[in-house]
Amino acid sequence: MDEEKTLTGLPDHMPDHVAVIMDGNGRWAKSRGLPRLAGHKAGTENLRRVIRACVEFGIRYLTIYAFSTENWGRPADEVSGLMNIIKDVIEKELDELNQQGVRLCHVGHLEGLDPELQRKVMGAVKLTENNDRLILNIAFNYGGRDEILCAVKHMMKDGIEPDKVTSELFSTYLLTAGTPDPDLVIRTSGEMRISNFLIWQSAYSEWYFTPTYWPDFDKEELRKAVFSYSQRDRRYGKVSSKEV
Ligand code: IPE
Ligand code: IPE
Ligand code: MG
Repeated sequence: MDEEKTLTGLPDHMPDHVAVIMDGNGRWAKSRGLPRLAGHKAGTENLRRVIRACVEFGIRYLTIYAFSTENWGRPADEVSGLMNIIKDVIEKELDELNQQGVRLCHVGHLEGLDPELQRKVMGAVKLTENNDRLILNIAFNYGGRDEILCAVKHMMKDGIEPDKVTSELFSTYLLTAGTPDPDLVIRTSGEMRISNFLIWQSAYSEWYFTPTYWPDFDKEELRKAVFSYSQRDRRYGKVSSKEV
């Protein structure tokens, strides 16, 4: 381990891009006899702590799943509560995020969101566009299948010949174009499924599952996840580098 990393208790081999399915807010609230929205508020508070930890750990890209295309199917008051929370977060956290050198990017559709929220998202993206300490991709109104279908439609509109379609070209049509694939995907709350998150990009990601509900997933849990990552042997279908 190099000296600086040993001091901060991090492994040598860190993930460059961490993606998180922030799950379990509802069950966190229920276990305390609170309404689901209280869980979403606690989850949002936690996000601030995790972003700080990522900056401190030197992680370059963090992609968080905040609202899926399927989450529109939840009760109307939960959906509008979630929209208000995201508006509030942008209002209250933007300056600090900007000062920390965080660049905010939105991954998903703006159409369908309330116009005021759209303006706030665009403003936050614009304000932070020159920051590069941590690239924070917020997957909001995002779905992996929808992203792939949009990419296919866009390629067809561009008249791309079938034999010109490669993985590399296809990736440039995705909402995450320009971002490396996630090295590590974390899902909290004990669920072990992808729920339509980064289905193309996570083809060779390492996964880390924890029973901890998202509002309780703290810096030490993140440290455990990156340590687990550092011990993985990423073979990409080949044989272990230790065997050749
Ligand atoms: C994740 O927590 C946050 C969103 C999907 C917006 P949930 O709301 O899914 O929490 P559980 O899974 O019901 O506990
Ligand atoms: C995935 O969690 C979406 C987000 C974390 C934003 P869900 O709670 O919506 O996923 P399912 O329904 O359990 O698969
Ligand atoms: Mg859930």
